[in-house]
Amino acid sequence: MNRTSTHRITICTSCRHKGDTCQPGYELIKRLDAAIKAAGDTISEDFEIAGTACMAGCDRPCTVAYYASRKASYLFGDIDADQDIEALVDFAKQYAVLHDGWCSSVDRPGKLRKTTLARIPATIIALEDRQEPIS
Ligand code: FES
Repeated sequence: MNRTSTHRITICTSCRHKGDTCQPGYELIKRLDAAIKAAGDTISEDFEIAGTACMAGCDRPCTVAYYASRKASYLFGDIDADQDIEALVDFAKQYAVLHDGWCSSVDRPGKLRKTTLARIPATIIALEDRQEPIS
């Protein structure tokens, strides 16, 4: 199936394990990308997976964000490529079918119940016709 990605997962590539120079975000991207592809059509939306620099959760490496237009956004911390790929894929399945992206912590899979750093409501920005420039 060839769909346009409307959902995104962004992984911090700057995070370092405490006391270590290792930056595990790149490995996490690789493994999650493979797992999302392997899940195929069990995930009802296509997810684009990308890396980014710091998402301000540096004390809780690695950080992973989920977002989509008109849906709540999430930032998770303490994500480990060796332990949490299944939970991340399960959350992609769940997030894909949530109308507004909103869910409670008890409904999230695995570690994601306890490691949510932020849940930001969906934003719809209405553009106004302004007569004057905004100062
Ligand atoms: S370095 Fe990863 S959140 Fe700051």
